[in-house]
Amino acid sequence: MQNMMKKDLPSREVLFDFHGVPMIHSFSANWEKIQNFQARPDDILIATYPKAGTTWVSYILDLLYFGKTSPERQTSIPLYERVPFLEITISSTDSAERLTTSPRLIKTHLPVQLVPKSFWEQNCKMIYVARNAKDNMVSYFHMDRMTLFHPDPGDWSSYFKRFLEGNSMLLFGSWYDHVNSWWKKKQTHDKIHYMFYEDMIEVKLIYHILFLEKLCCFLGLSSSLEERKQITGGVQFDNMKKNNMVNYSTLQVMDFKVSQFMRKGKVGDWKNHFTVAQNEEFDENYKQKMKNSTLQFRYEV
Ligand code: A3P
Repeated sequence: MQNMMKKDLPSREVLFDFHGVPMIHSFSANWEKIQNFQARPDDILIATYPKAGTTWVSYILDLLYFGKTSPERQTSIPLYERVPFLEITISSTDSAERLTTSPRLIKTHLPVQLVPKSFWEQNCKMIYVARNAKDNMVSYFHMDRMTLFHPDPGDWSSYFKRFLEGNSMLLFGSWYDHVNSWWKKKQTHDKIHYMFYEDMIEVKLIYHILFLEKLCCFLGLSSSLEERKQITGGVQFDNMKKNNMVNYSTLQVMDFKVSQFMRKGKVGDWKNHFTVAQNEEFDENYKQKMKNSTLQFRYEV
C-alpha cells in the first residue's frame, strides 16, 4: 500500500456484512490467513475501535521495548511497519514473519469475537484502548473523509445518525459493541489491559508517568523515571505530528489535503462538531445503549 503510485490510487470501497461485522474487501480479503495467524506467546496485540489512540499506544510500546536497544529503528522504519496491522499488512505480505523483534507488536481493529484463536491459545498480552464515543465519532468521520479506500462518510449529520444506529453502518461495526465486548472479555481474562484515551492525555506530566508505570507493570517491564519522562516527551502530540515515521505522511492512501492523521489530539473536540440538538439526541441514545454497561467515559478532562 505504501508504495502506491498516484495512478493506482484506490477507490472507495463498500461495506458488507462479514460474520456480523461491517467490513471492506481490503480488510477481509485474506481472512483465512488472518484467522490462521500463528501468534507466539510473547506477541502483544494492540486492539482498538478505529481512532481511539492506536498509533499513540503503538508508539509508546515500541519505545518501551526497543527505544533503548534499537534507537535507529525510530528514524528509519515507519511505525506502521514496526507495529503491523493484522487485517492488512500482516495478512497480505507476511510481514509478521519479517518481524524479527521479540516481542512482536501487532495492531488490530477487530471486535473481540473475531480475534484469531491463536492469540487466546498462546495467552498473549493484549492492550485495548477505548475513547469516548463523541470524540471517537468525530475523529473517525475525518479519517473516513481522508482515507481514499474507506467507504464514503457522507456529510456530518448523516454520519452522526449512522454512528448512533450503532449496528451495521460503519467499518468494524458499532462503537458500543466494540468497547463493551472487549470490556466484558477483560472481566474474565487477565491478559487484557484496558486503557482509556482520556487517561493517556492527562496534561500533567506526573499523570502521564503514572499511566506509563501502570502499563509497564502489566507488561512486566521495568523502566526508570528518566526513561518514562523521555518517552512521555517523545509521544507528545506535537512531537508525533511532526515525526514522519509516526504521522502516516508516507502513506499514499490518505489525502492530507482533506484532513490530517494527527488532527487535533484533544478531548472535547466533539463540541466543535455537535449541535446542541445532536448532543441531546446523542445523550439520550447513549443512556439506552449503555444502560447495562459498567464502562465510564470522560467527555472532557
Ligand atoms: P483526532 O482525530 O481527534 O486528532 P488512531 O491512531 O487509533 O487512528 O487514533 C488517531 C487519533 O489519536 C487522532 O485523533 C490523533 O490525533 C490522536 N492521537 C494520536 N497521537 C496522539 C497523541 N500523542 N496525543 C493525543 N492524541 C493523539
